Amino acid sequence: MRDGCFEEKLSSRSAHRSPGRRLPEMLYFHLRWISFLTLAICWGSLLGQAQVVSSPLPASALQPPPPPPAAPFPTAEDLEEGKRLFLSNCAPCHGPNGDGGKGSDLTRPHLSRASDDQAFFSIIRRGIPGTEMPNTRHLLDRDIWQVIAYVRTLERSSPPVHGDLVRGAELYRSKGKCGQCHMIAGEGGRLGPELTDIGERRSPGYLRTAITDPERAIPENFFLYRFVTLLPDNFLQVRVVTKNGRRITGIRLNEDPFSIQIRDFSDRIYSFWKSELTELHKDWGKSPMPSYRGVFTPAEMDDLIAYLGSLRGGR
Ligand code: HEC
Ligand code: HEC
Repeated sequence: MRDGCFEEKLSSRSAHRSPGRRLPEMLYFHLRWISFLTLAICWGSLLGQAQVVSSPLPASALQPPPPPPAAPFPTAEDLEEGKRLFLSNCAPCHGPNGDGGKGSDLTRPHLSRASDDQAFFSIIRRGIPGTEMPNTRHLLDRDIWQVIAYVRTLERSSPPVHGDLVRGAELYRSKGKCGQCHMIAGEGGRLGPELTDIGERRSPGYLRTAITDPERAIPENFFLYRFVTLLPDNFLQVRVVTKNGRRITGIRLNEDPFSIQIRDFSDRIYSFWKSELTELHKDWGKSPMPSYRGVFTPAEMDDLIAYLGSLRGGR
């Protein structure tokens, strides 16, 4: 930028200094254009710098300790803005009414992790590590307080539970054999995600879908969240064939450019060099969990959901 300005001065000076020595018309014309352009470039870069300076630093870079609560009595505009922010940032997972989806039901009378405003603030700011609940570095402190104010206005009522959770627990063991793949409080298989606190994490509607339509419950786009969560690649199902003809289907635990680790359906773990394999298929969008559509009667489904909803990991 400096060079540009300097050049601009030089060229205008040389144009001034040579009144006697008449420059050919064309050259003079060009010099005027050159100085105009360099001026424009100087301005451009100055403006660019000004913008960089004035763009806000991410709030998290400035203050690690959470700030004090915002206005205790938020205005109608705050709530309106909070609603707008909620719909665009939270509703995709927590549902447009906040009563849950892939994310938990935020209209419950008691949010165990967001029991007070400070905890709520820090969950939104930092996310919940190891889960799909993302951090929100792009929101300002004020935005977050507005979202909290709005969420606090959502109806706080426990959804009616129709089922019988004792019968549900029995179905989980007997008819469903869910424990083959899922762990609850240290018991069960490891092919699927642990369900110890599933009632805390997922809404009843999501749980129903996960059981009857496992494929639909797979996050559509896990790519983004891989950066912020420690979840494995959403239990991606893979099928491999080794050079000596062995076929193994399971879920991918880990993969790098040279090797892959797989857990098969009977909980055995394999590790292969990719050079040992003749085929490696990744079944994106396919769930290793079988669909239970039609397996349970509607009443049994209610029981099972009641049971899963009661699993709160002791929280
Ligand atoms: C990508 C999906 C996703 C998005 C987007 C998301 N959440 Fe979550 N959120 C979750 C999940 C999943 C959990 C449950 C995490 C767990 O406990 O395993 C959760 C948990 C929470 C909790 C804790 C609830 C409790 O029981 O204490 C709060 C509060 C929360 N989210 C608020 C928000 C707010 C506010 C936003 C928007 C700024 C938001 N979430 C955006 C997925 C999401
Ligand atoms: C053959 C193994 C297998 C069996 C049997 C099985 N699941 Fe799954 N389940 C999985 C896998 C793998 C996933 C993760 C991929 C997905 O979401 O589809 C999963 C996902 C889930 C989820 C979603 C968890 C989350 O956090 O998103 C729920 C809920 C669930 N299973 C409940 C059940 C119930 C209830 C039963 C019995 C009626 C059952 N599963 C039987 C393998 C299994």
